[in-house]
Amino acid sequence: MAGITNGRFCSKLAPKGFDMVTIGGYNADKKTINAGNMIIRRGRAEFNVPEPEIINHINQQINIIKDQTDWNGIVSVNIRATTPQPIIEISKLKGVDVVEINAHCQQPEIVDLKCGQALLMEPNLLNKFTKEVVKKSASKVSVKIRANTPNTDIITISRIVEDAGADFLHVDAVKPGYKNADYNVISSIKDNTDIFLIGNNSINNIKSARKMITAGADGISMARSLKNGIIPFDLSLV
Ligand SMILES: Cc1cc2nc3c(=O)[nH]c(=O)nc-3n(C[C@H](O)[C@H](O)[C@H](O)COP(=O)(O)O)c2cc1C
Repeated sequence: MAGITNGRFCSKLAPKGFDMVTIGGYNADKKTINAGNMIIRRGRAEFNVPEPEIINHINQQINIIKDQTDWNGIVSVNIRATTPQPIIEISKLKGVDVVEINAHCQQPEIVDLKCGQALLMEPNLLNKFTKEVVKKSASKVSVKIRANTPNTDIITISRIVEDAGADFLHVDAVKPGYKNADYNVISSIKDNTDIFLIGNNSINNIKSARKMITAGADGISMARSLKNGIIPFDLSLV
C-alpha cells in the first residue's frame, strides 16, 4: 500500500514473485468515508468509494487480480472502519483471502474516530475489535500496526493481536527520523510472540530484505519501492 494499490496495480506485480498482495486501504463505513472526503479535500489521495458501492468496488478489484492472472497467491484487503462489521462483510467476498485491520493510519481525521493508529493507544479496544473480526471473519485476519508510536508498547500490542487470534501481524517498523527500518523492534516482537510476522519499512534492495528476515520476520512487505511497478531486486534470492 502506497496509495496506488488497486486491482490493476496488484495484478501486474503479483505474478512476479509475490505470495500475497494487499489492496487498499479502503474506508469502509460512513464515518471513515466522511473522514476520507476531508483528507481528499486537503490534497491527499484516498481509496474513498461511496458506502453503497464499496462491496462492488472491492469485488471488481479482486476479480481483476484473480481472473486476469494465473497467479496462485493470496489477496489481502486493508480496511479502516470504526466497527468490525464492514470488515467482516468484506471477508465474505469471494476471492478475499485476508482482511487486514488497519491500526496504522495516522491521518488525524481517521485517528479522531478512534480508528487506525488510535487502536494502538487503546489496547482493550484493539483486542475486542480483533477478536470480533477473527470470530466472524470468513477469511484470515491480519492486523497492520506502526512501530515507535508515542505512548504505546509494541510488545503489549503484538501480544494482544496474537491473543485475539489473528493470523498475521504486519508491522511497519518505521523509526521516525531514520531512513532504515527499526530491525530491533522486529526482533523484540519475534522474541515475544509466535504469530506470523510480516516485516515492513524501507525494503528496497536485497540487503534490506535479508536484514528484515534475519531480524525475525517470517515474511516481508514493500510499498514505496514498488511505486513505479518495478520490483527493485530478485525476490527469489531473499
Ligand atoms: C501514499 C501512501 C499511502 C499509504 N496508505 C496505506 C494504507 O492505506 N494502509 C496501510 O496499512 N498502509 C499504508 N501506507 C503505508 C505503507 O503500506 C507502508 O507501511 C509504509 O510506506 C512503509 O513501507 P515502505 O517503506 O515499504 O513504503 C501508505 C504509504 C504511503 C506512502
